[in-house]
Amino acid sequence: MPAIEIRPEVYWIGVNDRTTDLFEGVWPITQEGVSYNSYLINDEKKVIIDLTKAGKTDEFFSYIEEITSLEEIDYVVLNHLEPDHTGILRTLRRVAPQATILSTPKAKEMIKSFYGLTENIKSVEDGEILSLGKKKLQFFYAPFLHWPETMVTYETSQRILFSCDAFGGYGALRGAIFDDEYKDLSFYLKESLRYYVNIVAKYTRPVLKAIEKLSGIPIEVIAPSHGLVWRKDPGFIVNLYQKWSQYATGNTEPGITLIYSSMYGNTEKMMNAVAEGISSTGIPLEIFDASRTHVSYILPSLWTKAGVMIGSPTYESKLFPPVAQVLEMAALKNIMNKKAAFFGSYGWAGGALKHFQKIAENIKWEVFDSLSFSGRPNAEELKKGKELGIKFAKAVLG
Ligand code: FEO
Repeated sequence: MPAIEIRPEVYWIGVNDRTTDLFEGVWPITQEGVSYNSYLINDEKKVIIDLTKAGKTDEFFSYIEEITSLEEIDYVVLNHLEPDHTGILRTLRRVAPQATILSTPKAKEMIKSFYGLTENIKSVEDGEILSLGKKKLQFFYAPFLHWPETMVTYETSQRILFSCDAFGGYGALRGAIFDDEYKDLSFYLKESLRYYVNIVAKYTRPVLKAIEKLSGIPIEVIAPSHGLVWRKDPGFIVNLYQKWSQYATGNTEPGITLIYSSMYGNTEKMMNAVAEGISSTGIPLEIFDASRTHVSYILPSLWTKAGVMIGSPTYESKLFPPVAQVLEMAALKNIMNKKAAFFGSYGWAGGALKHFQKIAENIKWEVFDSLSFSGRPNAEELKKGKELGIKFAKAVLG
């Protein structure tokens, strides 16, 4: 995609990435891709806002050169130092040494540690305004969106907020960059939620704090560094992020996420009975086999729903490892305050339930009830499993 003018003399110069399999080396994007959005303001002073990951340098530079020459760039604003937005920094510094890097003081330290650069870098103050000629930029510190050094940049004449990771999402752009160019936003909304829970959810308080801090600023365009540029209804994605952040305090949707694994089909057999009970109440239910589903795709359901049903056989006196790994990631991402229940098969001695209870206590999940059984569940046990599903669903519905 060539450079795209988003407002007079303000250009999107982003790069689509459809070949990286794991974002941050963890989160699958093989099918979805991702964009690294960068922006160029072509005023009397010329500015690039955020860069791109290493690897597509020629493509990125060619977009800049559609508008101006690299030697003409006056400033490079780095809202965030994570290398998906800064990977080409050393190369850029070699070809455009005159460009002053603008960042927070914390980012200045990180530029040295990540890239060994110390010269021609200027720290900006919170709220500082930089005149570019006709346009002005204002910088607002926004720590932990998503690292401690982050800030956002606001262009005052066109009212554009360059928000970096905040309000972004997975999903390579399909030949159009604006929200109003897609009739069906469901793919990008789904991928925004997955991105939010995978990357940003740990920092819900800073998200809410930043939204509050920016609430007095008129915004006509939200230009994040991943995913769609929101110009038709910028408030839509802000409201979504606000809603998703509020899930952290327990303001979740009625619904149950059932996460299970099964070694030889016995826990799976019980899972079907429990699911039958849950579904009979009409409560929304999502089921994930933890052995076959990357945790990236489980977390959004876990984040948004009030109830969690865990099904795990006992393995070496503990939870089955694929289930344990999902719970460890949930704990890492601060997915707390859930109502939970448990079922699972054991061979000769249990242990999975005790392991689950210990994890649940740490993340403040209230364990409502449990059902453990030896080997293959019999008819009576399956009946109890269905009843467990019904009782739990009713408890979640309140
Ligand atoms: Fe898109 Fe935290 O980097």
